[in-house]
Amino acid sequence: MGERKPAGWRTPYFLVEEERLLHNLEILRDVKARSGCKILLAQKAFSMYSCYPLIAEYLDGSAASGLYEARLGKEEFGKETHVFSPAYREDEFDEILSYADHVVFNSPAQVKRYAAKAKKAGKSIGLRINPECSTQEGHAIYDPCSPGSRLGTTLENFQEEQLEFLDGFHFHTLCEQDSDALEVTVAAVEERFGRWLPKLKWLNLGGGHHITRSDYDRERLIRIIRHLKETYDLEVYLEPGEAVVLNAGFLVATVLDTMYNGINLAILDTSAACHMPDVLEMPYRPPVQESGLPGEKAWTYRLGGPTCLAGDVIGDYSFDRQLEPGSRVVFEDMALYTMVKTNTFNGMPLPSIVYRERDGRERLVKKFAYEDFKSRL
Ligand SMILES: Cc1ncc(COP(=O)(O)O)c(C=O)c1O
Repeated sequence: MGERKPAGWRTPYFLVEEERLLHNLEILRDVKARSGCKILLAQKAFSMYSCYPLIAEYLDGSAASGLYEARLGKEEFGKETHVFSPAYREDEFDEILSYADHVVFNSPAQVKRYAAKAKKAGKSIGLRINPECSTQEGHAIYDPCSPGSRLGTTLENFQEEQLEFLDGFHFHTLCEQDSDALEVTVAAVEERFGRWLPKLKWLNLGGGHHITRSDYDRERLIRIIRHLKETYDLEVYLEPGEAVVLNAGFLVATVLDTMYNGINLAILDTSAACHMPDVLEMPYRPPVQESGLPGEKAWTYRLGGPTCLAGDVIGDYSFDRQLEPGSRVVFEDMALYTMVKTNTFNGMPLPSIVYRERDGRERLVKKFAYEDFKSRL
């Protein structure tokens, strides 16, 4: 247990709320119960492992992108550990086998290189397939089905004779999508790869399913999973990251200074580049508590970070109040793809991590210092 304090943590800090996490976990448990699928936590989105024992009460295991996440999943989450990597390294593979239950390969060449060894070690073996079916617009960097994608084996490259090694297929093609996109994708998978599905033990539908979003069509998801299970007699896995912690966390920041340059500017003690890089990468405008669109409320500000990067700008927001040094600014939906992506560019301190328990008490899970910056360099 970490340090306890009623409030007043040094900003910036990530705040994860148990009650909001539980809300999502209850929904995922219901989907599991009604569809018969298994659900894994995709650790790439959220690796705050102090929450793993709670998540493990609801979900079936964890999904890893390589050696370190596989180890974290095995040691801290337990249950099933699944690993997919676009290409495995020879010098890491034995250690990966020591943690993994399922090992998913990206290409026939990787199957050829490693599958016999993994099979001998008693692992369940999968191949990531590419159904060549794009269902998303706008975010090409999140579309594994975009032309020239390196992610997954296309039908043209599939080698039927490798089926003797394969226990399952894996695909991941969605990003923050509803189950209508899954339906289209599953139809493409069946059209291209359907003839081999009856020979397999499992099918992993990847992540990108926004299952816990209030307007997500869960009934359709459940129908799709049941259809796959009944038609092909398969175990079906989902490995969402975002959906597990959607809206379950905040990033709490403080205004350090304000200025005017044709628009009101506020410099915060948090940085888009260092603490929420998806804001710049994706890009998107994160929700801020008690704010409106520019001009909607009395005071409009451009919120930016304290780094040297001119583009370290989070966005333009309006508030009922004037911002001044010391004002709090709270960013919403900050549990996913944040803590796992932070960096110390400009020597920026990493935000602390605080957990609010069901009874409202807050606990400091982690705080960082100069050594965390220095030790990486
Ligand atoms: C293979 C794989 N599985 C699962 C996920 C999790 O996706 P999300 O967090 O959008 O649910 C990703 C995200 O990139 C992924 O690449």
